[in-house]
Amino acid sequence: MAAKSDLPVSDWSPISPEAKADPRAEHARLRAQCPVAHSSEWGGFYTLTKYEDVAQASRDYETFTATKQTVIPTSPRKGLARLPLQKDPPEHTYYRQGMNLFFKENKIRAMEPALRDLATGLWRDWQKQGNPAEYSDGFAARFSQGTICLLVGLDLSEGDELGRLSHEYVHAVQSENLSFAGGHSNLIDQFAIDLVADRRANPRDPETDMVTGLAAAEIQGRKYDDTEIAGMIRLLLIGGHTVPKNFLSSMAWHLAGDVDLQADLRARPEARKAAIEEFLRYYSPNQALVRRTTRATEMRGTKIPQDCPVALNFLSANFDEDVFENPQAFDPARSPNRHLAFGIGPHICIGMSLARMQARIALDLMLDGMGPFTLDGPVQWAGWTEFGVAEVWLRR
Ligand code: HEM
Repeated sequence: MAAKSDLPVSDWSPISPEAKADPRAEHARLRAQCPVAHSSEWGGFYTLTKYEDVAQASRDYETFTATKQTVIPTSPRKGLARLPLQKDPPEHTYYRQGMNLFFKENKIRAMEPALRDLATGLWRDWQKQGNPAEYSDGFAARFSQGTICLLVGLDLSEGDELGRLSHEYVHAVQSENLSFAGGHSNLIDQFAIDLVADRRANPRDPETDMVTGLAAAEIQGRKYDDTEIAGMIRLLLIGGHTVPKNFLSSMAWHLAGDVDLQADLRARPEARKAAIEEFLRYYSPNQALVRRTTRATEMRGTKIPQDCPVALNFLSANFDEDVFENPQAFDPARSPNRHLAFGIGPHICIGMSLARMQARIALDLMLDGMGPFTLDGPVQWAGWTEFGVAEVWLRR
């Protein structure tokens, strides 16, 4: 059991063979035995596994700050600050308000025709690949990358350059090549810095070009400087790409293993909305994000020292037996479904409407754009702090 003394024992490791093989089973054990679990990996950190605790800590930014650490393992803080993620309120609000201008419901809704066109073109290309074909890099990554380009207002050549950088970055992270990933992270920082310099020199339509729009915005009587804008764009470039990619791939993997569910959702498009929410709960692609304690605190009898990393485990919270009936079962009609896949509190995902729209478009294509499909080929799962499928081959 965890941490009733100054020298906590290690309750789990997210990179142990058991946790890698079945993180959900490992989380169930933790929720039952040590819901505020300690791990000695990466210098030591705690993980909150219960829904109520994850929600409480996400909201209590005075005790759990995002300003020092948001992932674990983390490289020493350098490069551009990811804004607004790495700020607490009230500073966080200042950045979030500017970004909100580009995530308003009507703006996102207006993107739907362009997103459907983009997805349909990519789908046709993917259909031309052999049979079986790999879906994650072959379709999902291209769609989520293209979505970011549309959202931010990138030209084709800028999109290609970003696509190359993030492809290499994501593969470096997944293969745990952290020094290569660190180098690439700097290149992506530089991409954001160059983009801001370009739009400053050649402003575009502030309604459709995010950098020009952010540069023109006056929030709380102040304008953002170049580094702040680059930090906001930087967060979207990777954050808005890898997580949706894995999520779409998880949906494909699940459906490929359940042709009856495919048939049902093909026949009843009205059932797809609820199914997407259950996919989000079941495959929460952002398994965990991290905060650091600003003071010593205690949760469920476990003492957490000051300045300690604490992982908010959204995936585990979404399987909490105290909140979800029969959580281990995938129920495409689950209602209510108060999952935390998009987080909660001040940092709740700013892109969630866009992510839901992407998921709906991708699901429509999977169900209406081909007949029954099955798994055929290697499957790769994303590792901590992500979750879900990172490579999946489909036979159709
Ligand atoms: C299935 C898709 C997605 C999931 C599951 C997801 C999940 C999350 C979660 C759990 C957080 C909370 C982080 C925290 O509390 O530390 C978050 C924040 C964020 N997400 Fe997403 N996300 C998705 C897609 C997107 C997309 C498409 C975008 C943008 C294009 C995006 C942009 C962001 C940003 C900017 C934040 C930080 C917000 C803040 O700090 O105020 N996300 N997301």
